[in-house]
Amino acid sequence: MNKENANSTLRKKKKLRFDTGLTVNLKKTKGRSISQQRWLTRQLNDPYVKAAQQQGWRSRAAFKLIELNNKFYFLKPGIKVVDLGAAPGGWSQVAIYHKAAKVIGMDLLPVEPVKGADIIHGDFTDSQNLNLLLNKLGGKADLVMSDMAPNTTGHAATDHIRIINLTEQALDFAINILNEDGVFIAKVFQGGSEKTMLDKLKQSFKIVKHAKPPASRKESRELYVVATGFKRNQKEK
Ligand SMILES: C[S@@+](CC[C@H](N)C(=O)[O-])C[C@H]1O[C@@H](n2cnc3c(N)ncnc32)[C@H](O)[C@@H]1O
Repeated sequence: MNKENANSTLRKKKKLRFDTGLTVNLKKTKGRSISQQRWLTRQLNDPYVKAAQQQGWRSRAAFKLIELNNKFYFLKPGIKVVDLGAAPGGWSQVAIYHKAAKVIGMDLLPVEPVKGADIIHGDFTDSQNLNLLLNKLGGKADLVMSDMAPNTTGHAATDHIRIINLTEQALDFAINILNEDGVFIAKVFQGGSEKTMLDKLKQSFKIVKHAKPPASRKESRELYVVATGFKRNQKEK
Protein backbone atom coordinates (compact mmCIF):
# COMPACT_ATOMS: atom_id res chain seq x y z
CA MET A 1 0.00 0.00 0.00
CA ASN A 2 1.48 3.40 -0.93
CA LYS A 3 1.66 6.21 1.63
CA GLU A 4 -1.41 8.09 0.35
CA ASN A 5 -3.60 4.95 0.44
CA ALA A 6 -2.34 4.09 3.91
CA ASN A 7 -3.18 7.60 5.17
CA SER A 8 -6.64 7.46 3.64
CA THR A 9 -7.32 4.07 5.29
CA LEU A 10 -6.16 5.50 8.61
CA ARG A 11 -8.41 8.54 8.22
CA LYS A 12 -11.41 6.30 7.49
CA LYS A 13 -10.64 4.12 10.51
CA LYS A 14 -10.22 7.14 12.79
CA LYS A 15 -13.52 8.60 11.57
CA LEU A 16 -15.36 5.32 12.17
CA ARG A 17 -14.00 5.11 15.71
CA PHE A 18 -14.94 8.75 16.34
CA ASP A 19 -18.50 8.27 15.03
CA THR A 20 -19.36 5.14 16.92
CA GLY A 21 -17.11 5.11 19.96
CA LEU A 22 -16.54 1.43 19.47
CA THR A 23 -16.77 -1.05 16.66
CA VAL A 24 -17.93 -4.58 17.25
CA ASN A 25 -18.18 -7.15 14.51
CA LEU A 26 -20.14 -10.26 15.35
CA LYS A 27 -18.51 -13.24 13.69
CA LYS A 28 -20.78 -15.97 15.02
CA THR A 29 -24.49 -15.93 14.25
CA LYS A 30 -25.39 -18.33 17.15
CA GLY A 31 -28.72 -19.20 15.54
CA ARG A 32 -29.63 -15.56 14.87
CA SER A 33 -31.33 -14.61 11.61
CA ILE A 34 -29.56 -12.11 9.34
CA SER A 35 -31.84 -9.28 10.46
CA GLN A 36 -31.35 -10.18 14.15
CA GLN A 37 -27.59 -10.28 13.54
CA ARG A 38 -27.72 -6.87 11.84
CA TRP A 39 -29.83 -5.41 14.69
CA LEU A 40 -27.46 -6.73 17.35
CA THR A 41 -24.37 -5.42 15.53
CA ARG A 42 -26.03 -2.02 15.20
CA GLN A 43 -26.97 -1.96 18.89
CA LEU A 44 -23.45 -2.91 19.95
CA ASN A 45 -21.96 -0.14 17.81
CA ASP A 46 -24.52 2.54 18.68
CA PRO A 47 -23.05 5.37 20.79
CA TYR A 48 -26.53 6.27 22.12
CA VAL A 49 -27.09 2.71 23.37
CA LYS A 50 -23.73 2.88 25.15
CA ALA A 51 -24.40 6.34 26.60
CA ALA A 52 -27.88 5.24 27.79
CA GLN A 53 -26.33 2.28 29.61
CA GLN A 54 -23.61 4.47 31.16
CA GLN A 55 -26.00 7.21 32.26
CA GLY A 56 -28.75 4.89 33.53
CA TRP A 57 -31.47 5.67 31.00
CA ARG A 58 -33.77 2.75 30.22
CA SER A 59 -33.66 3.36 26.48
CA ARG A 60 -31.64 5.11 23.77
CA ALA A 61 -34.98 6.81 22.99
CA ALA A 62 -34.44 8.85 26.18
CA PHE A 63 -31.93 10.92 24.19
CA LYS A 64 -34.57 11.80 21.60
CA LEU A 65 -36.65 13.46 24.33
CA ILE A 66 -33.55 15.08 25.85
CA GLU A 67 -32.60 16.50 22.45
CA LEU A 68 -36.15 17.67 21.67
CA ASN A 69 -36.29 19.37 25.06
CA ASN A 70 -32.90 21.03 24.47
CA LYS A 71 -34.46 22.60 21.42
CA PHE A 72 -38.00 23.41 22.62
CA TYR A 73 -37.70 23.61 26.47
CA PHE A 74 -41.02 22.01 27.41
CA LEU A 75 -39.89 19.94 30.43
CA LYS A 76 -40.33 22.15 33.46
CA PRO A 77 -40.49 21.51 37.21
CA GLY A 78 -43.97 20.89 38.60
CA ILE A 79 -45.71 19.89 35.37
CA LYS A 80 -48.10 16.96 34.94
CA VAL A 81 -47.03 14.62 32.15
CA VAL A 82 -48.71 11.79 30.25
CA ASP A 83 -46.27 9.38 28.58
CA LEU A 84 -47.97 7.20 25.94
CA GLY A 85 -45.96 4.22 24.72
CA ALA A 86 -43.78 4.43 27.81
CA ALA A 87 -41.91 1.09 27.77
CA PRO A 88 -39.20 0.55 28.85
CA GLY A 89 -39.48 3.89 30.67
CA GLY A 90 -36.79 6.20 29.23
CA TRP A 91 -39.05 9.19 28.54
CA SER A 92 -40.70 8.91 31.98
CA GLN A 93 -37.24 8.91 33.56
CA VAL A 94 -36.31 12.08 31.66
CA ALA A 95 -39.55 13.83 32.74
CA ILE A 96 -38.86 12.91 36.36
CA TYR A 97 -35.25 14.06 36.06
CA HIS A 98 -36.70 17.45 35.08
CA LYS A 99 -38.79 17.40 38.28
CA ALA A 100 -42.24 16.82 36.77
CA ALA A 101 -44.83 16.78 39.56
CA LYS A 102 -46.68 13.79 38.10
CA VAL A 103 -45.88 11.31 35.33
CA ILE A 104 -48.55 8.83 34.25
CA GLY A 105 -47.48 6.45 31.51
CA MET A 106 -49.08 3.63 29.54
CA ASP A 107 -47.79 0.81 27.40
CA LEU A 108 -48.90 -2.48 25.88
CA LEU A 109 -45.79 -3.95 27.44
CA PRO A 110 -45.15 -4.28 31.16
CA VAL A 111 -42.66 -1.72 32.49
CA GLU A 112 -40.34 -2.20 35.47
CA PRO A 113 -41.37 0.43 38.05
CA VAL A 114 -39.87 3.86 37.37
CA LYS A 115 -39.40 5.79 40.61
CA GLY A 116 -41.75 8.77 40.64
CA ALA A 117 -43.89 7.60 37.70
CA ASP A 118 -47.06 5.55 37.55
CA ILE A 119 -47.14 3.38 34.45
CA ILE A 120 -50.27 1.50 33.42
CA HIS A 121 -49.90 -1.77 31.56
CA GLY A 122 -52.48 -1.61 28.76
CA ASP A 123 -53.60 -0.51 25.34
CA PHE A 124 -54.06 3.24 24.99
CA THR A 125 -56.88 2.71 22.47
CA ASP A 126 -58.96 0.82 25.07
CA SER A 127 -61.41 3.20 26.80
CA GLN A 128 -61.15 1.36 30.13
CA ASN A 129 -57.42 1.99 30.23
CA LEU A 130 -57.97 5.60 29.29
CA ASN A 131 -60.38 6.04 32.20
CA LEU A 132 -57.81 4.53 34.53
CA LEU A 133 -55.22 6.97 33.21
CA LEU A 134 -57.58 9.92 33.68
CA ASN A 135 -58.33 8.84 37.25
CA LYS A 136 -54.66 8.60 38.07
CA LEU A 137 -53.97 11.96 36.47
CA GLY A 138 -56.74 13.55 38.56
CA GLY A 139 -57.15 16.66 36.42
CA LYS A 140 -55.52 18.16 33.39
CA ALA A 141 -52.01 17.62 32.04
CA ASP A 142 -49.37 20.12 30.92
CA LEU A 143 -47.59 17.78 28.53
CA VAL A 144 -48.83 14.79 26.54
CA MET A 145 -46.05 12.92 24.83
CA SER A 146 -46.48 9.93 22.57
CA ASP A 147 -43.61 7.78 21.42
CA MET A 148 -46.07 5.00 20.54
CA ALA A 149 -45.16 2.91 17.55
CA PRO A 150 -47.36 0.03 16.40
CA ASN A 151 -45.61 -3.15 15.34
CA THR A 152 -44.53 -2.71 11.73
CA THR A 153 -45.99 -4.93 9.02
CA GLY A 154 -43.19 -4.27 6.52
CA HIS A 155 -45.71 -2.62 4.19
CA ALA A 156 -44.73 1.06 4.30
CA ALA A 157 -48.15 2.52 3.44
CA THR A 158 -49.97 0.33 6.01
CA ASP A 159 -47.39 1.14 8.69
CA HIS A 160 -47.74 4.82 7.95
CA ILE A 161 -51.55 4.73 8.29
CA ARG A 162 -51.31 2.76 11.54
CA ILE A 163 -48.97 5.23 13.20
CA ILE A 164 -51.00 8.19 11.98
CA ASN A 165 -54.18 6.62 13.43
CA LEU A 166 -52.49 6.08 16.75
CA THR A 167 -51.05 9.61 16.79
CA GLU A 168 -54.44 11.09 15.88
CA GLN A 169 -55.97 9.28 18.84
CA ALA A 170 -53.18 10.61 21.06
CA LEU A 171 -53.86 14.12 19.74
CA ASP A 172 -57.63 13.85 20.42
CA PHE A 173 -56.81 12.71 23.92
CA ALA A 174 -54.35 15.61 24.37
CA ILE A 175 -56.93 18.14 23.15
CA ASN A 176 -59.30 16.89 25.85
CA ILE A 177 -56.93 16.91 28.76
CA LEU A 178 -54.30 19.59 28.16
CA ASN A 179 -54.16 22.74 30.23
CA GLU A 180 -54.09 26.09 28.49
CA ASP A 181 -50.60 26.53 26.94
CA GLY A 182 -49.97 22.77 27.23
CA VAL A 183 -47.63 20.86 24.93
CA PHE A 184 -48.12 17.82 22.70
CA ILE A 185 -45.21 15.79 21.31
CA ALA A 186 -45.66 12.76 19.11
CA LYS A 187 -43.74 10.42 16.91
CA VAL A 188 -44.88 10.51 13.28
CA PHE A 189 -43.40 9.18 10.05
CA GLN A 190 -42.53 11.09 6.91
CA GLY A 191 -44.80 10.10 4.05
CA GLY A 192 -47.81 12.31 3.44
CA SER A 193 -51.49 11.90 4.37
CA GLU A 194 -50.98 13.81 7.64
CA LYS A 195 -52.92 16.84 6.53
CA THR A 196 -55.96 16.21 8.73
CA MET A 197 -53.77 15.88 11.76
CA LEU A 198 -51.69 18.92 10.87
CA ASP A 199 -54.82 21.04 10.37
CA LYS A 200 -56.12 19.95 13.76
CA LEU A 201 -52.75 20.68 15.37
CA LYS A 202 -52.59 24.14 13.85
CA GLN A 203 -56.12 24.93 15.03
CA SER A 204 -55.40 23.83 18.58
CA PHE A 205 -51.82 25.00 19.20
CA LYS A 206 -50.03 28.32 18.72
CA ILE A 207 -46.85 26.76 17.32
CA VAL A 208 -46.46 23.46 15.47
CA LYS A 209 -42.99 22.26 14.48
CA HIS A 210 -41.46 19.05 13.17
CA ALA A 211 -38.06 17.92 14.37
CA LYS A 212 -35.76 14.99 13.87
CA PRO A 213 -33.53 14.77 16.93
CA PRO A 214 -29.97 13.57 16.22
CA ALA A 215 -30.67 10.40 18.25
CA SER A 216 -33.33 9.39 15.71
CA ARG A 217 -31.58 7.16 13.21
CA LYS A 218 -30.96 8.84 9.87
CA GLU A 219 -32.24 5.84 7.93
CA SER A 220 -35.53 5.87 9.88
CA ARG A 221 -38.49 7.87 8.52
CA GLU A 222 -39.42 8.73 12.07
CA LEU A 223 -39.69 12.34 13.16
CA TYR A 224 -41.50 14.20 15.91
CA VAL A 225 -44.18 16.81 15.95
CA VAL A 226 -43.83 19.34 18.77
CA ALA A 227 -46.94 21.48 19.31
CA THR A 228 -46.77 24.18 21.97
CA GLY A 229 -49.20 26.75 23.36
CA PHE A 230 -52.41 24.74 23.50
CA LYS A 231 -55.42 26.99 22.95
CA ARG A 232 -58.04 25.52 25.26
CA ASN A 233 -60.63 28.18 24.52
CA GLN A 234 -60.46 27.36 20.83
CA LYS A 235 -61.75 23.88 21.58
CA GLU A 236 -64.50 25.07 23.89
CA LYS A 237 -65.87 27.65 21.42
C1 LIG B 1 -40.35 3.30 20.86
S1 LIG B 1 -41.16 2.51 22.17
C2 LIG B 1 -41.21 3.77 23.39
C3 LIG B 1 -39.88 4.06 24.06
C4 LIG B 1 -40.02 4.98 25.24
N1 LIG B 1 -40.35 6.33 24.83
C5 LIG B 1 -38.78 5.02 26.07
O1 LIG B 1 -38.05 6.01 26.04
O2 LIG B 1 -38.52 4.07 26.81
C6 LIG B 1 -42.81 2.47 21.58
C7 LIG B 1 -43.80 1.82 22.54
O3 LIG B 1 -45.13 2.07 22.08
C8 LIG B 1 -45.92 1.04 22.63
N2 LIG B 1 -47.26 1.02 22.02
C9 LIG B 1 -47.58 0.82 20.71
N3 LIG B 1 -48.91 0.84 20.55
C10 LIG B 1 -49.46 1.08 21.77
C11 LIG B 1 -50.78 1.21 22.26
N4 LIG B 1 -51.85 1.08 21.46
N5 LIG B 1 -50.97 1.45 23.58
C12 LIG B 1 -49.92 1.56 24.42
N6 LIG B 1 -48.63 1.45 24.02
C13 LIG B 1 -48.40 1.21 22.72
C14 LIG B 1 -45.10 -0.20 22.31
O4 LIG B 1 -45.48 -1.28 23.13
C15 LIG B 1 -43.67 0.31 22.59
O5 LIG B 1 -43.23 -0.10 23.87
